[in-house]
Amino acid sequence: MTEQALPKSIEWIGGLDGYAAVLDQTLLPGEVRIIECGDTETMWGAIRRLCVRGAPAIGVAAAMGVVLGIRDFQGGDRQRFLRQLTSVCDHLAASRPTAVNLFWAIERMKRKADWTPGTVNDLKAALLAEAKAIRDEDAAMCRAIGQAGEALVTEGAGVLTHCNAGALATAEYGTALAILYAAHERGRQFRVYADETRPLLQGSRLTAWELDRAGIDTTVICDNMAGLLMKQGKVDLVVTGADRIAANGDVANKIGTYSLAVLANAHDIPFYVAAPSSTLDLAAPDGNAIPIEERSPDEIRRGFGRQTAPDNVPCYCPAFDVTPAALVHGIVTEHGLTSPVNEQEIAKLQKP
Ligand code: MRU
Repeated sequence: MTEQALPKSIEWIGGLDGYAAVLDQTLLPGEVRIIECGDTETMWGAIRRLCVRGAPAIGVAAAMGVVLGIRDFQGGDRQRFLRQLTSVCDHLAASRPTAVNLFWAIERMKRKADWTPGTVNDLKAALLAEAKAIRDEDAAMCRAIGQAGEALVTEGAGVLTHCNAGALATAEYGTALAILYAAHERGRQFRVYADETRPLLQGSRLTAWELDRAGIDTTVICDNMAGLLMKQGKVDLVVTGADRIAANGDVANKIGTYSLAVLANAHDIPFYVAAPSSTLDLAAPDGNAIPIEERSPDEIRRGFGRQTAPDNVPCYCPAFDVTPAALVHGIVTEHGLTSPVNEQEIAKLQKP
């Protein structure tokens, strides 16, 4: 096993005339390539195509996309500037619907502009600083999640995770994987089972890649193997990330998470979710209010360049599902472990 530094999922290079450097995750694990996003449209496409993905990382991407959309504004008319800002924000908000971090980051950027006095140039500088702050704060929240959750991973444990909730899905370090990194940094030995995560394979392409680079013992399984592993006693806990957590604690995450939670509960295995408080959506009373992204059937029919279902048979491709709060043993945020998961406990969590 190797221990190698990870390229950053996304970072801002230079000043206002700079660009967002996005690691193209669609090419991993085969190729490490950075895309230079110098305009909103390129960033919109990078979010939509999942070059940058994972709820916290797309929040950062949206914030940087806002900067890219206003930095070339000409003239000093503040009202016209704010109108352009609104239209850039509306456009970015249409890139992906489920991860609430995207909308949270966009709202934060709009608020920053509303509250910043001064010239258009002052506003531009304030918005770039805000986008960088969103990135840096996400990295700090992820570190805190790791510290808050590492004790869940005991010596010799088997840990199952789904999709990618690691450094690649955040500014740095991850959410579910932050817990694993923190346990690893303490010298604990454990084994991770990474669900492959059909149809786009974020588990086998991304989670396995980043955990292996960190020197963490990792085995990839196909999604439909999880039940057998649980029955065999190989899994002591399940930990996943989240794209949106409703006020009652229902959790939207990558499609297949709900099945895992049901399986974990059937085997009496604790099922944990790790997420920064920017993933909370207290305006959504429960999971029914969370919009679920539906992606192209071609991601199932001919996902990686090979025909895997007949052209004339419909394929249905929801990208996320909702796990009811009752199946979630605990939620680890930067504030600590919330358990039991219910409306009263969620209400105590502070959003950044
Ligand atoms: O479609 P993706 O790859 O953006 O989905 C990502 C997930 O579902 C992650 O588990 C979630 O965003 C948490 S990332 C810390």
